[in-house]
Amino acid sequence: MNFLTANSIEGLKLKNRFMRAGCFEGMCQNGQVTDQLIEHHRRVAEGGVAMSTVAYCSVSQDGLTFPHELWMRKEIMPDLKRLTDVIHREGAAASIQLGHSGFFTSKNVIGKRPLGASPKLCVFTLSYCREMTETDISEKIAAFASAALMAKESGFDAVEIHAGHGYLLSQFLSPWTNKRKDKYGGSLENRLRFPAEVIKQVRKSVGKDFPILVKMNQRDGMRGGIEIEDAIQIARAFEKAGASALIPSTGFTSKVPFLMLRGNLPVKEMSNNQTEFIKRIGLKLFGRFMVPQHDYQPLFLLEGAKKFKAAVGIPVIYIGGTDSFDGINELLDAGFDFIQIGRATIQDPDFVKKLSSGEIQKSVCDHCNRCVAAMDAGGVYCVSNEAGFLESS
Ligand SMILES: Cc1cc2nc3c(=O)[nH]c(=O)nc-3n(C[C@H](O)[C@H](O)[C@H](O)COP(=O)(O)O)c2cc1C
Ligand code: SF4
Repeated sequence: MNFLTANSIEGLKLKNRFMRAGCFEGMCQNGQVTDQLIEHHRRVAEGGVAMSTVAYCSVSQDGLTFPHELWMRKEIMPDLKRLTDVIHREGAAASIQLGHSGFFTSKNVIGKRPLGASPKLCVFTLSYCREMTETDISEKIAAFASAALMAKESGFDAVEIHAGHGYLLSQFLSPWTNKRKDKYGGSLENRLRFPAEVIKQVRKSVGKDFPILVKMNQRDGMRGGIEIEDAIQIARAFEKAGASALIPSTGFTSKVPFLMLRGNLPVKEMSNNQTEFIKRIGLKLFGRFMVPQHDYQPLFLLEGAKKFKAAVGIPVIYIGGTDSFDGINELLDAGFDFIQIGRATIQDPDFVKKLSSGEIQKSVCDHCNRCVAAMDAGGVYCVSNEAGFLESS
């Protein structure tokens, strides 16, 4: 058992192999850092992970998916510094996910027509996006670079670029959303031009020896999306562009949002939490047809992640269904450098501590996924947990 031994990424020494995966907290009303968000990550850090990840922070206002999400700008840097200080005081490092929603948002949230790789209707937000011009693309590359620098200057030890799950960079990578005829569409080389340039410019902006993690898809999960063969080529290109480590996930929020999670579909809870009447009714009536369900199994992304591990020289961080002592040993035996954990640490923020002391062997999270619905109703917490860990205020 070596999972409490230290390991490094790009010169950043981490005290063990565990990171809290980016799990949207739903605690940032009007894009502000709140005391609730700070306490959430303090508690996660106290639970023994080597690094906590602040979930989805948009690089610009038009990349917000929800109004209660962070977007990076100078005015929130002092509060972000408070947040990183608190995480550091608990003995953990701090990372932040930087992304842009692309077409997976609506005018109600961002005040204008969403941007996308190509014009497309999003059936969840009912918005039809505008194809990005080359000027838009340059602006977003600059926004990623400056957001990463602001994160570094706010005390974060790493950034995690979101190039998966059907967000903007993933919309360019995927032939399902990218129908462009210019140098950003068509061949794989063209489709990865914009995301790879983002990584290059982020590297320029944060300098060397600063970890840039990239979360991406091993497959999108629907016909016409990225499959593993393309993903391996993308992974190699990201390594070349300056990524320090890769996190191979899966799923597309506007088509197969639960593929990255697996388990139960909390349709009733999600529908009850919609503020717009039409969406509430729509989800209630059609939720089961609109959102496919996928069965859970431990380590559900292992096969593809192993292919990544064989293809690149940088660390590969395993994500997806890590819920037990045996599972972790299997991952370490397979050579994964780090492991990101989501639900097991939402269910019990002391999961890593308890596992390493031998107090538990397995998480009791039952993959009901009601925490996913809770993030839109005052903040993420484990709904099944009677003790109320991380309960919203
Ligand atoms: C409540 C909740 C919110 C999530 N929000 C995000 C997010 O903001 N960004 C992201 O990349 N993944 C998000 N995820 C997905 C997780 O990062 C992770 O990929 C997934 O939960 C699988 O890992 P697990 O089996 O350890 O939970 C979220 C998951 C949960 C449960
Ligand atoms: S609500 Fe709790 S038990 Fe259900 S999936 Fe989330 S963490 Fe697991």
